[in-house]
Amino acid sequence: MRKNIVAGNWKMNLSENEAIQLAKEVAEIKVSNAEVIIFPPAIFIPTISKLGLDIKIGAQNFYPKSNGAFTGEISINQLKEAGISYVIVGHSERRTILKEDNEFLKEKVNAALELGIHVIFCCGEELAIREKGTENEFVKNQLVESIFHLNADQLKNVTIAYEPIWAIGTGLTASKEQAEGMHLFIRETFASQYSQELANGISILYGGSCNPTNAKELFACPNVDGGLIGGAALKSADFSSIASSF
Ligand code: 13P
Repeated sequence: MRKNIVAGNWKMNLSENEAIQLAKEVAEIKVSNAEVIIFPPAIFIPTISKLGLDIKIGAQNFYPKSNGAFTGEISINQLKEAGISYVIVGHSERRTILKEDNEFLKEKVNAALELGIHVIFCCGEELAIREKGTENEFVKNQLVESIFHLNADQLKNVTIAYEPIWAIGTGLTASKEQAEGMHLFIRETFASQYSQELANGISILYGGSCNPTNAKELFACPNVDGGLIGGAALKSADFSSIASSF
């Protein structure tokens, strides 16, 4: 059976003290039917990791080379040493603001998996694409170009996060029909590319203005296996309520 996951993407927020406090509070969230992961800003990862809390830690980003002349970048090796076991690849903010394309994301996916770091791979369309009705083809292409070169064994270390760009940080959430429709499409795409058994085992998270009010209805969808949470992950009470929504 696939895993339920609730992941908090803290983005570029919080001071060090606030991050430590939030990590401690999140570590107190005990849910038996979901994995809880936090993605703090990279600079706070070593400090949070050394607290030894009962919580999985991930990195929001890394550069896909092990070392070298890449001023300002952090390698996945360095982040692994700092204590991460997950990484986000393909977040729309990195695709749009930092211009990361499918080919570069494929390199990042490979680099992370090579070191045994679990990849949360984000996909999702912008509003204009949904209005045109071509969101399925668009998302499929993101998977084809960055993920579908992997073999079935490698995919055991990959989780998909569907994050429609028009729902991120906007207060607009995909309806349960829109979320379930896309998640089912993604699962069917994995089934036809690989096998139904593999597709059934892949966790597909929803991201985009997920909050304590809408989490229950989204997580109740048969193909939604949890959430990648932005704004609502910055308050432990909200995050806790979302994590308890299965
Ligand atoms: P919000 O929950 O703030 O919309 O952000 C979603 C997201 O981008 C998580 O990665």
